[in-house]
Amino acid sequence: MTNHDELMQPSRKGFISNYPHFRYWKKPVVEEMLAEDPVNIYIHVPFCAQKCAYCYYKTEQYRDPAQLEEFVQALCREIRLANERFHFGKRPVNSIYIGGGTPSLLKENLLREIIACLRENFVIAGPEFTIEAEPRTITEQKVKAYKDLGVTRLSLGVQSFDDEIIGMSGRKHSAKKALETIEMIMNAGGLAVNIDLLSGLAGETDETWMKTIDTAIRTEVHNITVYRMEAYLNTEFFNRGVRKKQIELPSEEQELHFMELALEKLTASPYKPWSFFTFTWKGEFQHHYAGNLWRGEDCCAFGPSAFGMLGDYNYQDTLNLDTYLASLKEDKLPIARGYKLTAKDVMIKDLLLGMKLHSMSRKVFREKHGIDFCRVTRGTVDELSDGGYIRVDDESITLEVKGILYGDFVGKRLAAALKQYLGPDELSLY
Ligand SMILES: C[S@@+](CC[C@H](N)C(=O)[O-])C[C@H]1O[C@@H](n2cnc3c(N)ncnc32)[C@H](O)[C@@H]1O
Ligand code: SF4
Repeated sequence: MTNHDELMQPSRKGFISNYPHFRYWKKPVVEEMLAEDPVNIYIHVPFCAQKCAYCYYKTEQYRDPAQLEEFVQALCREIRLANERFHFGKRPVNSIYIGGGTPSLLKENLLREIIACLRENFVIAGPEFTIEAEPRTITEQKVKAYKDLGVTRLSLGVQSFDDEIIGMSGRKHSAKKALETIEMIMNAGGLAVNIDLLSGLAGETDETWMKTIDTAIRTEVHNITVYRMEAYLNTEFFNRGVRKKQIELPSEEQELHFMELALEKLTASPYKPWSFFTFTWKGEFQHHYAGNLWRGEDCCAFGPSAFGMLGDYNYQDTLNLDTYLASLKEDKLPIARGYKLTAKDVMIKDLLLGMKLHSMSRKVFREKHGIDFCRVTRGTVDELSDGGYIRVDDESITLEVKGILYGDFVGKRLAAALKQYLGPDELSLY
């Protein structure tokens, strides 16, 4: 009699004590279970010397060093309180990212204090450690201090190498200053450098944009990131460009054209796509922090508006700096909102975020979720592959140039198809 025949016969035999049966349980899984899960750390420093016209991040006007001192005291209290509550103590840290705002406004002593606090509360053994920086805030002395403190990567906000475009964006540095800063960091050695550019800034023309991309490529920095400028509701570009129509922003078609030009130049250069917006020098110097998060690793987030994920929970700190500071004065964690993901949400999230990478592993997804998403979304996969957006093999799914150009489109299409297969729900994909 086969298993199936046996199952179909009414019988009182075979008491179920667990699933799957003990005969499937293995020793290596016990070791895996007892190991501490790795974690990543994000810190949000919410101060800037100016508010850029396109920027949607939660930032406050930087006035004096006392603001930063008060903030760092609160931040360290938050890290200690979170460790008491969530017991990070023995979890190895896979990467650290200090973003903002402009964390490069922090003087060496305050950065040292933050790092000492992280070391007291986590196991930190030389992971990737990124700090975001604005060109005017970086000096040779600071670069040296960063290296002494274990920083491995600097992410520089550049946006454009055209002075007029930079000025219209509300930024206060020149293209020359950005280039000098990049050159100084590259000459010092020992730090990987990323530069952020924005496609679709006010005033951009083919000529200014080609100049920006060519200049970026010539710097030979380790990573070039090209974001699509989105005029979010809380930005000056939205207010003056979309609402009041006082300034002209590039149309969707124009922005698409800028990104096409950027891709033409970048794909003909030594830079290789690593995600749909980050290009790495000869395919090296990948950005581990982003990759780890997109592969679903935990992230502890600290600082106003910082968002993280621990286990099945997404969570975010309060957006308001005063509320943040007040809450920590009372020894309360400043977490303001969260979302508990179901097993299905985790699958959709892993697919959406995983498809930000140039190439996503089918195998890793299958091992984690027990499902081959390409098989269950076959119709959509075929459509995207016939449309020239992706190529698929047994191991992975890779974005073609058209897939890179359209950003999250591939991820959203696949996630919608997977959702259909798993059973639709009320959560929208954007
Ligand atoms: C925190 S900032 C970088 C560091 C530093 N604050 C600076 O600007 O020099 C992070 C990046 O987000 C990007 N960004 C800001 N606003 C954006 C928007 N509306 N759309 C797309 N990207 C945006 C910019 O490229 C910016 O460099
Ligand atoms: S782009 Fe950078 S410097 Fe400008 S407001 Fe945003 S975080 Fe601050």
